Amino acid sequence: MSATAAEGFSRRAAALLRSAANDLKRDDENAERELGLEPGTFADHTSGKRPLDWALLRRAAEVWPLNERDLLPVHDDCPAGLSVLRAKESLGSSRVLARGGEGYYEYRDTAMSRIASYRPEWIRMLRVVEDNRADNPRVQWNHGHLLYQFTYFVGPVNYYYRWGDTSYCVPMETGDSVWGLPFAPHSFTARSDSEPAYILALTYGGALVGDAQRELAVLGRRPAHDLALPVAGSPSSQPGLIRSFMAARCLTPAELADRTGLAADRLTELCGPGDTDGRGGTDDTDGRGGPGDTATESELALLAEALGVSVRDLLAPRSTSHRGVSIQHGRDARSWDHPGKDGPAYRFTQLAGDPLHPHTTALQVDVRAAAASDDARLVTHQHQYLYVLGDAPVEVSWEHDGRRRTDVLEPGDSAYIEPLVPLTFSTAGDTLPRLLLLRIAGAVTPDVRYALGSMAHGGIDRYIAEDRLWYSKEGN
Ligand SMILES: [Fe+2]
Repeated sequence: MSATAAEGFSRRAAALLRSAANDLKRDDENAERELGLEPGTFADHTSGKRPLDWALLRRAAEVWPLNERDLLPVHDDCPAGLSVLRAKESLGSSRVLARGGEGYYEYRDTAMSRIASYRPEWIRMLRVVEDNRADNPRVQWNHGHLLYQFTYFVGPVNYYYRWGDTSYCVPMETGDSVWGLPFAPHSFTARSDSEPAYILALTYGGALVGDAQRELAVLGRRPAHDLALPVAGSPSSQPGLIRSFMAARCLTPAELADRTGLAADRLTELCGPGDTDGRGGTDDTDGRGGPGDTATESELALLAEALGVSVRDLLAPRSTSHRGVSIQHGRDARSWDHPGKDGPAYRFTQLAGDPLHPHTTALQVDVRAAAASDDARLVTHQHQYLYVLGDAPVEVSWEHDGRRRTDVLEPGDSAYIEPLVPLTFSTAGDTLPRLLLLRIAGAVTPDVRYALGSMAHGGIDRYIAEDRLWYSKEGN
């Protein structure tokens, strides 16, 4: 860690300690007594004058109802807003993993950051098959994995996926892509050993990794199953949500009928027979039994008012995945010019995705212009990953901390870019560059963004770096 990075880490740790002490209503004297610190030293820890030490972390997690990780900041490994992993470094991480005693895949790391949940790998298929059968015994399946996987295909690659007891094989070619759900087994092979056959396997955890996984690991298996909600399209998805809020609010069907003015029979149709167990569970996700009627817009408004929630809290997201995957072949992918048809800077092609992840965007970018205009600046709330496909280098310009920076990325180079960093691409030679862009959400979900937007004046600055006791010792 560089001196600047270490300093930033200490500063963020100091702010977290003050923030946690404030949450627990501990002033400096009480904190010092409970943490076994010398009188007058707590302020040195919360100002960053004294670095975070493990003994203090352990002590705090022992005597206060918090976890060590609550006091641990994340590392900033992208101080310039964009960090590059060169093709040469990627090659340096090459390792062949065997399945059944024979090399099956060659893996190479591409750009990752500690700030985002990406784990993107370049993977070459070493197994060559002669057919497109899903039951080919030469195909080695995995057990599936936690991370969502967006895959971009290059060359004659066979994609295998399994949902339930059935296995499928889809022959893919360059430009095809797929988005897949966690823990579904899959595999890849090559149909030819005479041309390149590889994938960009861009896995990411999104909201599944981090706090939610740790909380459910403590709550246990049964609660984790009971908390699972069906997506839209299942007859139990909306009733499950309504029943969940009824249980949370301790509302009876009679009280809900009274509040909404809806007839008891109609409420039964909308929410089920009133087993308000709070789970909103998935018992009937296969469509057996349960209520099936969807509330109209005006009924939803009445229910939201009665439950003290927003209408969106009563709406389940939809998914277009089928058997666990959303496949997008390049031949029928939608493409468009950006920012307009006249002298466009880019031509974008929409790659695989799913409405279940509205904050994931996968794009193929064909860069058209030698000098990008201001209209060509691309800004997003998402974290961004890019990989240079094809044979042409690309010039990347971005703005961070009031500075404009430029770099040339060669084929096989990849980069991570922080949210809201304005980015432009332009050609760096005679050949037009092609990029793969995958944008994903981080921990700053819409709920967090709404919370930021509704804080009291000055709140956002203190939220990211608490710098004071929550009241003044001297009084007003
Ligand atoms: Fe995978």
